[in-house]
Amino acid sequence: MKKYIMLFVSVSILLLGACTDDRAGSDDVHNLTLAHNHPTTHPVHESLEKFKEAVEGRSDGDISISLYPNGELGDEREVIELTQTGAVDITKVSAAALESFRPEYSIFGVPYMFDSEEEFEEKMNDPEVADTIYQSSEDIGFVGLTYFDAGMRSIYTAEREIETTEDMAGLKVRVQPSATSVDMIEALGGTPTPMAYGEVYTALQSGIIDAAENNLTSLVSSGHGEVSDHWFYTEHAIVPDMLIINNQLLEGMSEEHQKIVQDAADVANEFHKDVWDEATKEAADEAQNEMNVEFHEVDKSSFEEAAQPLHEEMKNDEMMGPIYELFRGDESDGEG
Ligand code: GCU
Repeated sequence: MKKYIMLFVSVSILLLGACTDDRAGSDDVHNLTLAHNHPTTHPVHESLEKFKEAVEGRSDGDISISLYPNGELGDEREVIELTQTGAVDITKVSAAALESFRPEYSIFGVPYMFDSEEEFEEKMNDPEVADTIYQSSEDIGFVGLTYFDAGMRSIYTAEREIETTEDMAGLKVRVQPSATSVDMIEALGGTPTPMAYGEVYTALQSGIIDAAENNLTSLVSSGHGEVSDHWFYTEHAIVPDMLIINNQLLEGMSEEHQKIVQDAADVANEFHKDVWDEATKEAADEAQNEMNVEFHEVDKSSFEEAAQPLHEEMKNDEMMGPIYELFRGDESDGEG
């Protein structure tokens, strides 16, 4: 049923686009669709509202944006494909979902890639790093506009308790549908189960999986705290959310409009930093006090050690080696 609704919505958007979106660019007026998979209460949605407001205000209504939250237009893989063809104009997806389209995005799935959130921010704000990532998909139909901090990912379980990687044995952990995410949980000792984000709640509830790994907001905004008893601060990855746009559309806009879209993305990125920190704190508080999720520290060194072979692999990979070097810089010879 959901598929039919999605198909209907996609066709309607295409028809709507055909009527109101002048892709030929003669008068440079655009009615854009923007898809993402979070509920409207999620901080990313707020930041996308900010993006919409900035684009519409700055373009004096020449560019308007309709937001489609809640995965209404499809899961992350589906909306990336729709963005490639231009059926959807702009999409917010996790960097992990982009990995099967461009390998550069797999860098974020290497556990303990960044030593801290500060280091992650520093790299993402380095124009050389950002451009390498954002432009990597230019030849397959889309480019990155900006990223949204999605925090540190940790493991949470329906019932079981963990402290070291030894306790991960046999633990079925939902991972994002990406090869690096599968390798990551395998390296950390668990049994990875790739699945779309929208299916995680039911899978945890029904026992199809024993655990998931994500940021703190997932406990509250997607209700995962209702079906999880424990949160473990493994803090094993920082996988940003990416805002991508169909590049034919972008290139077809006047320079002025291209700049408006890019500047609005930068505004939304800055705005997101503030709402994200606040939302994360609130989520931890609500999960602990209202959903009765127990929070635990783990023996992080055991997890960091288990991640080392994946660093070696990435570093020595012909294609990914230079990207690893770009992100790790001076540290690439030291401990991960
Ligand atoms: C984060 C991210 C989502 C992604 C999800 C996942 O919540 O913001 O875009 O879908 O992780 O684990 O799949």
